[in-house]
Amino acid sequence: MSDQGQLIDFYPYRDRFRTYHRLEPEGRDRRSILEELAIMAAEEDRIGDAGRVSGSIYHGDHDHYEFLTEAFRLFAHANVLQRDMYPSATKLEAEIVAMTAAMLHGDGQVCGVVTFGGTESLINPMLVYRDRGRAEKGITEPEVIVPSTAHVALDKAAHLLGIRLVRAPLGDDWRADVEWMRSHITDNTVALVGSAPNYAHGVVDPIEELAAVAQERDIGMHVDGCLGGFILPWGEALGYRVPRFDFRVPGVTSISADTHKYGYALKGTSVLLYRTPELRRYQYFNYPDWPGGIYMSPGLSGSRSGGVVAATWAAMVSLGERGYREIASRIFDTAARIRAGIESVPELEVIGEPTFLIAFRARELDIYHVNDHLVDRGWRLNSLQLPPALHFCVTRPNTAPGVAEAFIADLRDAVEYAKHPVRSEPRSGALYGLGGTPSGNEALNMLFNAALDAMYEVAPGGGG
Ligand SMILES: Cc1ncc(COP(=O)(O)O)c(C=O)c1O
Repeated sequence: MSDQGQLIDFYPYRDRFRTYHRLEPEGRDRRSILEELAIMAAEEDRIGDAGRVSGSIYHGDHDHYEFLTEAFRLFAHANVLQRDMYPSATKLEAEIVAMTAAMLHGDGQVCGVVTFGGTESLINPMLVYRDRGRAEKGITEPEVIVPSTAHVALDKAAHLLGIRLVRAPLGDDWRADVEWMRSHITDNTVALVGSAPNYAHGVVDPIEELAAVAQERDIGMHVDGCLGGFILPWGEALGYRVPRFDFRVPGVTSISADTHKYGYALKGTSVLLYRTPELRRYQYFNYPDWPGGIYMSPGLSGSRSGGVVAATWAAMVSLGERGYREIASRIFDTAARIRAGIESVPELEVIGEPTFLIAFRARELDIYHVNDHLVDRGWRLNSLQLPPALHFCVTRPNTAPGVAEAFIADLRDAVEYAKHPVRSEPRSGALYGLGGTPSGNEALNMLFNAALDAMYEVAPGGGG
């Protein structure tokens, strides 16, 4: 549910395929199962394959996915917790971490873990800073200060870990307001967070300044590079203006970088790096007194499939620096053309100084009307709020010839449409505008709870 503005049909297959409410007495033949899955996959891939989707599909080449799936297949059934059976997991995970650390200019001390995704790569460091604050400073009511644009997984982390998350405003340049963050540090503050870049606007926070403040106050500084960690380094190497955000910056103590985004791996992995092994220790969970045996685990996850680890390693090794740089070159070039196209439309305003993800809003028009028209033309952008805006996160499928030009042409038409929309309430903005007040938030929460319930219900009235 990354784009709650769109209304979703959760059960498009209810009238076409059998709905299972319980295990059948007898199993079904494999071929018909695979045929049914292949129909769903082919229909669903059509959206991403058209090259008109923002974010989500980062590589997009089916040949690449087939290669990764082959690597996945070899270890799909393996449990990476069981290193006696699967020592390959040690080789593959350690090398994924080492390659990522080198890309982000980590020295010999920098270490890390492979996690199940960006969310875990944000929850774990919050645990680390909370527990370090408790162990080293006796802090019992920990606080973390993050820019208002920092990813919502940090709110999830704070909710789970009993941390007070303090949301800082942005400056006029849409980056974190460093002075505000500095002046809100208290004796309970255990860490600051900045994004490289943030999900909403693709803007990199002033990491060097934030890290200097963190260092001065002896607190953690986490850089959320979940989105940008695997592409910004190549943008910098290509000569694009990319602010420093990695371990070259003194005071940066941890960085998350998602392999399942611009690392071009399969979904289900991310890398979390720490400046020192001492920090990483705070996230280990060991339990020697359990009747089930002596238990140790590096983070939140228990058993994990070796398949995604093997596929991630295979993606990184097969692409190498040249592969990442070539794709980044196409993405940065496409993003620059899209940005120029948006800037050429007087009714629109690009937000901040973007990198490969361009966010924009409308001066006089309802941007969600603009989106409605783009949706009708087959585009799938991401709707933002506070303020209302859209973003286009450029990925490899968007770099195909003609895509940027087609987008700009459709965007111009969409702006014209938004001047005289056929309906007064835009479809895309159906849920936006409800938030921000207690009663509005309550209504949204009820809707979201119902939607989440619906995701785990078998198709109502589905053919059985
Ligand atoms: C900047 C940033 N941080 C964290 C996340 C969360 O990552 P995940 O969805 O893999 O948990 C995202 C996801 O888009 C992101 O863009």
